[in-house]
Amino acid sequence: MTVLCLRRPDDWHLHLREGAGLAAVLPDTVARFARAMVMPNLVPPIVTTKDALAYRDQICAALPLGADFQPLMTLYLTEETSPTEVLRARESGAVHGMKLYPAGATTNSESGVRTLDGVYPVLDTMAEQGFPLLVHGEVTDPTVDVFDRERIFLERHLVPLQRRFPDLKLVLEHITTREAVDFVCETPPQVAATITAHHLLLDRNALFRGGVRPHHYCLPILKRALHRQAVLEAATSGNPKFFLGTDSAPHPRTAKERGCGCAGIYTAHAALELYAEAFEQCHALDRLEGFASHHGADFYGLPRNQAHVVLERVAWQVPEELPFGADRLVPFRAGESVTWRLRDQHCSHGKP
Ligand code: NCD
Ligand code: ZN
Repeated sequence: MTVLCLRRPDDWHLHLREGAGLAAVLPDTVARFARAMVMPNLVPPIVTTKDALAYRDQICAALPLGADFQPLMTLYLTEETSPTEVLRARESGAVHGMKLYPAGATTNSESGVRTLDGVYPVLDTMAEQGFPLLVHGEVTDPTVDVFDRERIFLERHLVPLQRRFPDLKLVLEHITTREAVDFVCETPPQVAATITAHHLLLDRNALFRGGVRPHHYCLPILKRALHRQAVLEAATSGNPKFFLGTDSAPHPRTAKERGCGCAGIYTAHAALELYAEAFEQCHALDRLEGFASHHGADFYGLPRNQAHVVLERVAWQVPEELPFGADRLVPFRAGESVTWRLRDQHCSHGKP
C-alpha cells in the first residue's frame, strides 16, 4: 500500500454557507485542512469586518469538538466599500482578503462590482497595506461566450488592473484556462492563483457524458482538454504562485437538478484525495505537499502548519448523497470511487 504523509494543508477558497448547511459540510473540511479562506457570498453578503467576525463566530460554534481548524475570513468588495473598511479588516487580524465578484458573474454575486474604476480608492489602500484582492475572473457581458469569459476578463480587466496597481497582492481564483496560467506566470510574485480539484480532473466533456450533468456545472465552467492540461501543468510545476483552493460549493440537490440549476461542485468530502489523484496522473505526487501545504501559506504570510495528514492509496466509494441541513447534496464522484483515502490518524513518520 502506498502511503503519503503531508504537512497539514489549507484550502484557500471555500464556500461554507450558514446554519444547518454549514454544520453539515464543515467536518469534511476540518478533517483535511487546518485553515480555509471562507468566501463571503452569503445572502446578504459579508461586506464589513463586523459581519465577518460574526460569521467567523458562527463557523467556530459549528466546529466539531476539539477541532484544530481556523477559518480565515474575506470581505465581499462592493462599490460602497470604503478604504477605512480595508484598514478595519486588516487590523482585525481575522480578515485576510477582499473578494471581487463582477456583478452577476456567479452564485450570489448580485451586489458585486459593476465598474472597476469605482473601487480604485479601495484598491489603492489595499496595495499600500499589502492586503490581498481575490478575484473571480470572469466577464459578465452576455454577448461573450461562456467558455471565453475568463480569457476576456484577463484581456479587458485584469491585465489593465495589474498594470494600474503593480504592487497589489492579487489571487486569481479557480483558474481554468491556459491564458490564466500564462498571466500568472508572467506577472510578479505578488500575483498568484488557486486551482480546484475538479478543474484538474475534468474537462468540459464531463458536462455532457451520456446526458446533461448538472453536478458538473460550476463557474468558471469546465473548459477544453488543452486548458485542463495547462492548469494541471501549472499545479504540478512546483511554481509557488499556484496553490490549492477547492471552491467546494455545496447546494441542495433540488437547486442543482431543475430547469435552471445553479453553479457549484461539492468536493470537500474528498478534496485532498482528489488532488492526489490529479497529481498522480502527472507523476507529480512529490509536488503535492508544496501545492497543498506550503505555497498558499507562504503567499499570505502565514506560518506553515505543524501537524501532518496521511493519505493511503486505497480506493473507496463516495456515497450517492450526503446530508445538507434539511436537504441532501450530491458530492463529486457520487456513487463512484476515489483512489486515495484519508487515514484517520496522525503521521507516524516522525516528520517535524
Ligand atoms: C460558487 C457558489 O456556489 O457559491 N459557485 C461556483 O460554481 N463556483 C460561487 C463561485 O465561487 O463562483
Ligand atoms: Zn468560489
